[in-house]
Amino acid sequence: MLYRLAAPALFALEPEAAHRLTIAALRIAPSLPPAGTGPLATMVAGIAFPNPVGLAAGFDKNAEVPDAVLGLGFGFAEVGSITPRAQPGNPRPRLFRLEQDRAVINRMGFNNGGAEPALARLAARKRRGVVGVNVGANKDSPDRIADYLAGIRAFAPVADYLTVNVSSPNTPGLRDLQSEGELAALLSAIAGERQAGYPPVFLKVAPDLADGDHERIVRAALDHGIAGLIVANTTVSRPALGSRHADETGGLSGAPLKSLALAQLKRFRAIAGAELPLIGVGGIASAEDAWERIRAGASLVQLYSALVYEGPGLARRITRALERLMRRDGFGSIAEAVGTG
Ligand SMILES: Cc1cc2nc3c(=O)[nH]c(=O)nc-3n(C[C@H](O)[C@H](O)[C@H](O)COP(=O)(O)O)c2cc1C
Repeated sequence: MLYRLAAPALFALEPEAAHRLTIAALRIAPSLPPAGTGPLATMVAGIAFPNPVGLAAGFDKNAEVPDAVLGLGFGFAEVGSITPRAQPGNPRPRLFRLEQDRAVINRMGFNNGGAEPALARLAARKRRGVVGVNVGANKDSPDRIADYLAGIRAFAPVADYLTVNVSSPNTPGLRDLQSEGELAALLSAIAGERQAGYPPVFLKVAPDLADGDHERIVRAALDHGIAGLIVANTTVSRPALGSRHADETGGLSGAPLKSLALAQLKRFRAIAGAELPLIGVGGIASAEDAWERIRAGASLVQLYSALVYEGPGLARRITRALERLMRRDGFGSIAEAVGTG
């Protein structure tokens, strides 16, 4: 209700200014406690999630508001992407609302304050609720694998899980890390780094994959102890769009990504079966979308773009309705329903 009133004012602002204002508001608003355990609770990669609906990376790049996000009813919050060193990202404008399409195009380019301040903030919080840290590589890094290792090492003590993001389209060459040789080198370096007590590591992939990529990625993930795949990041493809910013360069997210992200999730599920947990993301805006993704094989889901259009009450609305859908279809838990679609 309040968001209905505030939305026109937020939408009148340049999108990045609106985002900054949202983060500032979340920083000062008294935050509610994280969701408690209930019928939607689910265990994935050894982590107890109070519900399967998480906030995707990119909203809280600097780990400023994870607890406020959890207080909105999300079952988990993924902060980042964070690179070892601070970097400004691409020149503005770099974030576009495609209102008619319920979509977003961004070419932010990993703008973030670097690992040190984010780590200090995460270390200072009371560990309540599930927070993942998504790590990336600096644009000008001479050794990108070393950047991922540095991120994993730094954030392991303060994260419930870590995400290795090799799928942002806005850092030139980054997605090459998904190719056969480079992915094996990256994942084996990460496996070598992980020590007892390290949290599980998820791998986040692009939706723009060719035939054969899925098998390779699943094999590499299983070979190197990756705990789950996040499917997917934004797309560089351009389905038919009606908004004036449709031709901006960058990654497209929101409603027009939904069918592609769902199709890629299904392919990964068909190859990996239940062996490798999948986290479905891309165009999820309702309980029906979340449920469809779970039935298609996602153990957890995430969203970001829909929050722009639906407002901060979205997580609670989705989880409430998701419980009804679960019961309607005769399931007693989310885990039971995964991949039954
Ligand atoms: C403005 C913006 C910034 C993003 N930044 C990141 C990022 O830093 N790291 C990352 O892994 N994904 C990032 N993403 C991708 C989202 O996490 C998500 O995978 C994608 O937007 C699809 O989900 P959605 O359709 O619900 O938005 C970003 C998305 C948007 C819209």
